[in-house]
Amino acid sequence: MEASSQSTFEVDDLRVERQGNEILRSISFRAAPGELIGLLGPSGSGKTTLMRSLLGVQALTSGSVKVLQSAVGSASLRGRIGYMAQGSAIYLDLTVEENLEYFAGVLRLAAMEVERVMAVVALTSFAGRLASSLSGGEQTRLSLAIALLGSPPALILDEPTVGLDPILRRDLWRTFEELARAGTTVLVSSHVLDEAAHCARLLLLRNGALLFDDSPAQLLAAAGATSYDVAFERLIEGVA
Ligand SMILES: Nc1ncnc2c1ncn2[C@@H]1O[C@H](COP(=O)(O)OP(=O)(O)OP(=O)(O)O)[C@@H](O)[C@H]1O
Ligand SMILES: [Mg+2]
Repeated sequence: MEASSQSTFEVDDLRVERQGNEILRSISFRAAPGELIGLLGPSGSGKTTLMRSLLGVQALTSGSVKVLQSAVGSASLRGRIGYMAQGSAIYLDLTVEENLEYFAGVLRLAAMEVERVMAVVALTSFAGRLASSLSGGEQTRLSLAIALLGSPPALILDEPTVGLDPILRRDLWRTFEELARAGTTVLVSSHVLDEAAHCARLLLLRNGALLFDDSPAQLLAAAGATSYDVAFERLIEGVA
């Protein structure tokens, strides 16, 4: 593995318990700049909890989590991790542009940055529309635009493609691939297993434990499967 001093994410023996239940069990991994990593696992397997741990908003039971070489929660990470939460975090009573201006203001970014991220998610022509009038997919793209403000070196996207049609999903994955090529570390959770193919690396969670950490090709090989659906089922059910 790369020198740890260069890692964007550095997770060592992370454990999270909630109300006496083990939600994350001894998770360890590192991620380097420019990696595009898919985080897969059944509902309730701990994907959001792992992402919240990387953001510094999750109480950790033990272990250590560093992002961009700083302990999570430190002030130096402010504005350096782009996050798109599962479900919408936008203000429905503001327009597209006003939402972005609000978050750009919090991060003290120039107005040009609002124009830039609107273009990235193809919402420029929707700038003056109230967020409440956007379709589900358009709201998702607005949430993503908020995460992209300021070009943070680390992006954590919790199910960003949910509810999007195949064309929009393809376009978003192209955006993620471009961001990764430009050096951003992108961690994306998903339920759509075919999306695994877009990632150079997959993390598979089952019941709070990291079951698999390798390439999509290795996932198919390890499960002796030709489709991601089957490979995922076999690994999750423990038959591979
Ligand atoms: N506040 C809480 N108190 C107790 N348990 C919780 C709490 N929040 C989440 N959990 C539990 O932690 C486990 C992991 O939840 P998490 O949201 O991380 O899963 P997930 O993989 O993101 O699921 P999904 O795919 O449905 O989004 C679940 O069993 C969930 O019920
Ligand atoms: Mg979740």
